[in-house]
Amino acid sequence: MKPGENFEELDKSRHLRKRFDCGRKELNDFIRQSAARHRDAGISKTLVLPTLAGEDEKADICCFYTLSHTEIERETLPKPLAKKLPRYPIPVMLIAQLAVHTEAQSQGLGKITLIQALKHCLEINKHLPSHAVVVDALDKGVQAFYEQYGFKALDHHGQGRVRLYLPMSTIAELFS
Ligand SMILES: CC(C)(COP(=O)(O)OP(=O)(O)OC[C@H]1O[C@@H](n2cnc3c(N)ncnc32)[C@H](O)[C@@H]1OP(=O)(O)O)[C@@H](O)C(=O)NCCC(=O)NCCS
Repeated sequence: MKPGENFEELDKSRHLRKRFDCGRKELNDFIRQSAARHRDAGISKTLVLPTLAGEDEKADICCFYTLSHTEIERETLPKPLAKKLPRYPIPVMLIAQLAVHTEAQSQGLGKITLIQALKHCLEINKHLPSHAVVVDALDKGVQAFYEQYGFKALDHHGQGRVRLYLPMSTIAELFS
């Protein structure tokens, strides 16, 4: 599987969604069945890194990420951060999905996809600020993947997943 150069917005006519397999059913089902519908419904945006393909060929998807909005309770943040914020739900950006095809895993694409997603969040933040980027880790292994890039667990109890956050100010510093 040879990745192309640039991430692109998901396009049903150009990207082969059915063949994407990252080893996790919920993520496979999302890119195959829901990502385009959610975009059309105006609730999220999915960017994919396609394989290199000819002009008239459809490309496989090497990896993808999906961004959306959500909010967190101020009380789930550490006290020093929380005390600077108002006492109502805090708007944040959500990396709702992020996955790499099994044939392309362990080659650095997960890191590249996360960096691309964070850059994208920073770009959106210029127009409409959010306090942080959050992600819901599916399990301890995935939590460790995000923690190595500075994400920290929120005090959050939802659907058995650990919600992690990275302040937007930290992301801005990373790319300054
Ligand atoms: C988790 C996932 C995105 C990682 O992608 P990847 O391309 O295999 O990861 P990379 O090769 O970019 O690895 C980058 C770093 O993360 C580490 N890493 C990768 N997977 C990890 C994991 N599950 N736990 C902890 N660290 C991990 C690598 O060792 C590497 O560290 P290094 O830079 O010190 O060598 C990928 O395995 C995947 O898509 N899994 C299935 C879907 C999934 O669980 N997505 C997350 C949804 S919340």
